[in-house]
Amino acid sequence: MTRFLCSSLLLWAVCATAQAVHPKNPLGTGPDVVAAGHALYNRTCTACHGIDGGEGERAPALVGDRRFFRLSENSIFDTIRGGIPGTAMPPFSLPDDDIWRIVVFIRAMRSSASETDVPGNTQQGMAVFTGKGGCLKCHMLNGKGGTIGPDLSNIGAQVTLKRLRESLTQERPIPADYRPIKVVTRDGKTVEGIAKNEDAFSIQILDYQDKLHLYDTNELREILPGKTSLMPHDYDRVLSAQEYQDLVAMLARQVHTTLHVHQDGEGEVGR
Ligand code: HEC
Ligand code: HEC
Repeated sequence: MTRFLCSSLLLWAVCATAQAVHPKNPLGTGPDVVAAGHALYNRTCTACHGIDGGEGERAPALVGDRRFFRLSENSIFDTIRGGIPGTAMPPFSLPDDDIWRIVVFIRAMRSSASETDVPGNTQQGMAVFTGKGGCLKCHMLNGKGGTIGPDLSNIGAQVTLKRLRESLTQERPIPADYRPIKVVTRDGKTVEGIAKNEDAFSIQILDYQDKLHLYDTNELREILPGKTSLMPHDYDRVLSAQEYQDLVAMLARQVHTTLHVHQDGEGEVGR
């Protein structure tokens, strides 16, 4: 909206002034500011949002995949101060510094793993990835590896640190493109892997050797969908604490996109 208005020459002067006075976070983003914001948030916002930014009864979760949220400090600041008109999100007349503290807390929760300071030895982490972890069997990293799991070359930019850890340690819902499946053909051959495309008449299976099989469903004697993801989720137990930490640190630094600075308002969904 602002951008539309500001593209009109008449309003240019007004908008330029308005943008120039937009407040900047004076407090920085250090751990003490995050902690203060966390406390304020849990005191002020959990009537609707869940505790620690989770889902509440009356408002959405504020943590999760960054793509779906307001991203810039300023747009979160404006949302807290002004509310979201037409929704249950009210305006708050807190002191500016307190709003900034909450903003810094929300941003910290939403940051991608690559924006988070993760201690650990990335070289050792790579050794775990290619060796003991056995990850290359299923995952590509920078052009090498298997394709039965997602390419991890940009994983640090795609998920939060929390979500990265959960992928390695907790059973999660299986994403649509990675449903495990086993079929037995009419002539008794068994093929196992993940179902890439499936409808009433045909099925495509990517097997552990990264080979794609296409079957008519009437060629098959049995179709057995797996219940759990092929992704193991016990890496915090099968690896030593140090190996696990190094692996996470290495993954968090995998960023493979051209650098792109988000403008205010860009990439936001909804109001
Ligand atoms: C009375 C209930 C209520 C309270 C209290 C409340 N919120 Fe909200 N909030 C909502 C609702 C509902 C939405 C979703 C609005 C919509 O549909 O877009 C929302 C949305 C938001 C969003 C936008 C989500 C996004 O996409 O980024 C932010 C940020 C937010 N709230 C922060 C806060 C903070 C910080 C506090 C405490 C200072 C707070 N809210 C207190 C109800 C509430
Ligand atoms: C037997 C195959 C297999 C092995 C071995 C394996 N993965 Fe996976 N992984 C998958 C599959 C399939 C998925 C996608 C389905 C899912 O998320 O459950 C996945 C998902 C993931 C994700 C989530 C990706 C995203 O976009 O959210 C991460 C991170 C990951 N694996 C890391 C690893 C690491 C690190 C290792 C080694 C320590 C490893 N995986 C070993 C098959 C495997």
